[in-house]
Amino acid sequence: MRTLGIDIGGSGIKGAIVETHSGKLIAERYRLPTPQPSKPKAVARTVAEIVAHFEWRGPIGCTFPAIVHHGVILSAANVHKAWIGADCRRVLREAIKQPVTVTNDADAAGVAEMKFGAGKGKHGLVIMITLGTGIGGAIFYNGVLVPNAELGHLQIRGVDAEARAAARVRTEENLSWKRYARRLNEYLSYVEFLFTPDLFIIGGGISADHRKFLPLLSLRTKVVPARLRNDAGIIGAGMMALGPRRRT
Ligand code: BGC
Repeated sequence: MRTLGIDIGGSGIKGAIVETHSGKLIAERYRLPTPQPSKPKAVARTVAEIVAHFEWRGPIGCTFPAIVHHGVILSAANVHKAWIGADCRRVLREAIKQPVTVTNDADAAGVAEMKFGAGKGKHGLVIMITLGTGIGGAIFYNGVLVPNAELGHLQIRGVDAEARAAARVRTEENLSWKRYARRLNEYLSYVEFLFTPDLFIIGGGISADHRKFLPLLSLRTKVVPARLRNDAGIIGAGMMALGPRRRT
């Protein structure tokens, strides 16, 4: 089955047609910058441009970088605060004139990794952590997602973990890989203490550089890089478009 997956991020909005049986992208992905300020109507217009680019009619799934409860946005760490309380599903449907599913970005990326990437066939407790502008978390127990985990907002040394260990912070503070790995290790040790996972999957664009920092971590839990890299969000969004029972 083919669907359109759209990954809404703080800096870019990208979409592609997803073949949900294989988890592969069919056509070249299309990316537009996230409008600034990233208010609901402006973001919805950009999503509509992406749908128009693919001349798409059919199932559409979107990710969103915040808590998404039945289509409603309940937080806004890295997007405009006007989103809080907005019915994202409705705002997008009105702009694109088609129904759409909305899923937290880390949850969608995790769903794709569990099906087609580093989590394939993995049982027990798997935690996917995405390192980007913020930190996203997705928890799976025996392959079943526990949505909206918000693990990036655990407090480390009195501040949000994402303010210390997101990939953005490494660039902004010009941290060496060693110093970054130390911060990440402190954070992941805390997550490990709270959840005792069987596996950590590290995603986000930075996972392309995994050789530079994953070997520096010292955790009891096995840590592996995500395999789908930056496409995980789009693929997961496309899978979620099929609804909970028809994801394959
Ligand atoms: C948000 C999460 C999101 C993560 C990654 C965090 O700031 O609260 O909902 O998954 O960033 O984008």
